[in-house]
Amino acid sequence: MSYLEIQRLEKSFGANRVVKDFNLSIEKGEFISLLGPSGCGKTTVLRMVAGFETPSGGAIAIDGQDVTTLRPNQRNIGMVFQSYALFPNLTVAQNVGFGLKVAGKPRAEAPPPCARCWS
Ligand SMILES: Nc1ncnc2c1ncn2[C@@H]1O[C@H](COP(=O)(O)OP(=O)(O)O)[C@@H](O)[C@H]1O
Ligand SMILES: [Mg+2]
Repeated sequence: MSYLEIQRLEKSFGANRVVKDFNLSIEKGEFISLLGPSGCGKTTVLRMVAGFETPSGGAIAIDGQDVTTLRPNQRNIGMVFQSYALFPNLTVAQNVGFGLKVAGKPRAEAPPPCARCWS
């Protein structure tokens, strides 16, 4: 089983079936991109992986654990939103480092650009 396993994922908003039978396997450390026209469901898939939307069907497993119905704070998934969720008064590194600090990670575990912002 891959680190992230998405099987037969479905999401409908009312009568609008936005995600249809979506399947994806990603290994730990793998870098992938979701490409598609605006409105095709990319963000909705990411929000379901992070736990901000509940799937209408299908399953999501992370590291062998079924997380389909877990809350976002129970998944250890980081999500950088497209807009509105960055602190405009902080640098990119400080924005990334903020979540690590709140999670109680020591400076030594932060990527170098973030660790420089630790105070
Ligand atoms: N909370 C929501 N309520 C109703 N419709 C939504 C909601 N979120 C997304 N949608 C609809 O789902 C579709 C896919 O949106 P989205 O996942 O944001 O697409 P993408 O990120 O690929 O541009 C769009 O038609 C959008 O209007
Ligand atoms: Mg989007």
